Amino acid sequence: MNPDRYAVAGHPVTHSRSPWIHARFAALTGEAIEYGRLPCPLDGFAATVRAFAAEGGKGCNVTVPFKFEAPALCVGLTPRAALARAVNTLRFDAGGWQGDNTDGAGLVADITVHAGVALRGATLLLIGAGGAAAGVLGPLIEAGLARLVLANRSLDKAEALVGRHAALAEARGVELQAAPLEGCGSRFDLVVNATAASLHSAGVPVAATVLRPGGLALDMMYGPAAAPFLAWAREHGAHGRDGLGMLVEQAAESFCFWRGRRPPTAEVLTELQRLVAAGSPP
Ligand code: ATR
Repeated sequence: MNPDRYAVAGHPVTHSRSPWIHARFAALTGEAIEYGRLPCPLDGFAATVRAFAAEGGKGCNVTVPFKFEAPALCVGLTPRAALARAVNTLRFDAGGWQGDNTDGAGLVADITVHAGVALRGATLLLIGAGGAAAGVLGPLIEAGLARLVLANRSLDKAEALVGRHAALAEARGVELQAAPLEGCGSRFDLVVNATAASLHSAGVPVAATVLRPGGLALDMMYGPAAAPFLAWAREHGAHGRDGLGMLVEQAAESFCFWRGRRPPTAEVLTELQRLVAAGSPP
């Protein structure tokens, strides 16, 4: 029997580690899947993904810059994808496509399981209000933080995102507020960078007073893009962590959405960390 086909759809996708991660999951679970890359022109996301489905594809991951476009292709969204208004996982069901967003669950699993840091009762600063931040805000609130501050260069975007999550935060007893980058608070237990600042060589966009000694400072990027943030965290006594654990965990959630079983992640993460540290190409 031919393996079921999946892919990562984005622009660009050449750098993506997802094909390697899903190949490892397939080997470890014995699931017969094949996972490739689906480069989409900026104005051709829907057409490219529809063609892949028509050729027999079973589903795909969606990455930058199409996560906000993907919900419109779905007949059904998981509650977390609906709240984020962004989809990173499509499943091409016969009755219509289903969309999920596994980024937040991936981040929460990496922090609590791999980094071993509790979110319940903690204070967290989330920097950024784009697609990356939108995908993780709901699951971070669900994890039972005491307080979450969402800081962004454009305050209106942070306020809009916070407004959409206000009811959930209230229901979970989480103090949630939007803030500008300057004066967004100090000594957070966790600081999560969800901005694209490092890609533009703009440096870390908040003051070091947001960190507390021994706290966790996580950048959703990895490799050279995350290096300045991690160096900054270490310099100020916090534990720096890159986005590789989140990447592996969000992939495991997507795999589960497609295949109904959760692959093991710990050894896949260790192998991937070694590959990236050695500068091995995707
Ligand atoms: P993504 O979907 O990956 O989150 P995005 O929607 O372009 O990408 O969002 C990028 C985020 O990085 C935004 O929060 C952006 O701030 P604005 O909303 O003010 O644009 C933030 N960002 C990008 N460059 C930045 C910089 N040099 N300093 C601070 N924040 C920056």
